[in-house]
Amino acid sequence: MAYLLGLDVSTTGSKALIIDETGAVIASYTTPHPISHPKPLWSEQDPADWWNGMLTAIRAAVNDIDSADQIKAIGLTGQMHGLVCLDANNNVLRPAILWNDQRTGAECDAINEIIGAERHIQLTGNRPLTGFTSPKILWVRNHEPDIYAQIAHVLLPKDYIRFKLTGGYATDMADGAGMILLDVANRRWSDVVLRELDIPAEWMPDAYEGPAITGVVSDEAAAITGLKAGTPVVGGGGDQAAQATGVGAVEPGIVALTVGTSGVVFAPLASYAYEPEGRLHAFCHAVPGQWHFMGVMLSAAGSLQWYRDTLAPDEDFGPLTDEAESIAPGCEGLVFLPYLTGERTPHPDPLARGAFVGLTARHTRAHLTRAVLEGVAFGLRDSFELIKSSDAGVINEVRVSGGGAKSPVWRQILADVFNAPLVVAEALEGAAFGAAVLAGVGGGVFSDVPTAAKALVSLGERVEPGPDAASYADAYALYRDLYPALKPIFHRLADI
Ligand code: XUL
Repeated sequence: MAYLLGLDVSTTGSKALIIDETGAVIASYTTPHPISHPKPLWSEQDPADWWNGMLTAIRAAVNDIDSADQIKAIGLTGQMHGLVCLDANNNVLRPAILWNDQRTGAECDAINEIIGAERHIQLTGNRPLTGFTSPKILWVRNHEPDIYAQIAHVLLPKDYIRFKLTGGYATDMADGAGMILLDVANRRWSDVVLRELDIPAEWMPDAYEGPAITGVVSDEAAAITGLKAGTPVVGGGGDQAAQATGVGAVEPGIVALTVGTSGVVFAPLASYAYEPEGRLHAFCHAVPGQWHFMGVMLSAAGSLQWYRDTLAPDEDFGPLTDEAESIAPGCEGLVFLPYLTGERTPHPDPLARGAFVGLTARHTRAHLTRAVLEGVAFGLRDSFELIKSSDAGVINEVRVSGGGAKSPVWRQILADVFNAPLVVAEALEGAAFGAAVLAGVGGGVFSDVPTAAKALVSLGERVEPGPDAASYADAYALYRDLYPALKPIFHRLADI
């Protein structure tokens, strides 16, 4: 049996996953790593924690198989957009600034001024958002000039692990697109944007397609990981492209809905397109020759996690969400806004805030729980609507995965709010599985990504919209009116 190794540097941990050529999981180990928020809006991690965690996870996974020879290739994935700065001796210069860091509002404004807001969307497919990478580079230049002066390489989180494994500076097209320094249409770094932002082109890693081989495991890395020196390491993909690959959203018409900490609606595209206002992200897919639109909600299952931890800490998610089933759609006039960590799609606003609107003395905990599930579903529908009205074409199937998809009540609410059938993807291993699928192509086990996905991905139950679907029209319309009405209040609250 050939084995494939997927490595995922997520926000919460470093995972090593070994699957076989039927998609069966042979080994899966995750080492958690900490996150720090040293100032309001800041979110950072130490790349050394990722690497140490990954070493532990890889060693444990390799220990479970007869021989590291069986691993035909390695695929990398991870949290997107994070900035890792290395000096000329490959020392990490400062903690990585993560995807959910919101400190770069002024730098995003500056990018729009330098390049022109509309032109930036034309050149990169996207508008500058606080979470993306280029404004972080500018932030380091503005606030930490001594560090900026020492930068020799900029890398994304998973690509720091690649560097430790292979010694090479490389990324993949999907993750590269999230730096918003890529000419997404032509799948190469944008000379124009780099020049106009005065970011040295030589800092950028080489950009490869997802299944392409970027390097091999070095002797040094082999000695400390237990991997075989010379094992190919493929481009892989940013976590959303890898997650989509891992549920088989590798052709237009199959949409991936991920209800993780963040919530994502991901639609593959057969040719490059961008949303003229930049409300959807337009990135390269991890599948060569494909692009994708994506709407990202920052707190999806993250909202439920906050709600449980804060208001029902002794309750498991299963019983808590089951309780919501007894409440009628619309929660008797209670609406939850899920903007607990600001928002991206469709309201790119780091100062957006969460809210329960319409509380009365009649409302119980079950109403509040259901309002959270519905509010997240409404926020995801915002992205779904944008994708339906975009150039993504006909949607044949929506595949749902992520921690939130484990709740049958939430799955039904999502199908009803979207008014579309959902197919549950058994993607328990998340993005790491997609990275392993990409490794399957680079390692020569499969001819291309769609063939690999067909062989490896398992699908589960289909959830049809039920009789409640019709009753969500009014509640969703009300939800849509709330953000514009509350925006001025949110911005005043942020000053407190
Ligand atoms: C995607 C995004 C998140 C992070 C963390 O644009 O910001 O999905 O990759 O998971």
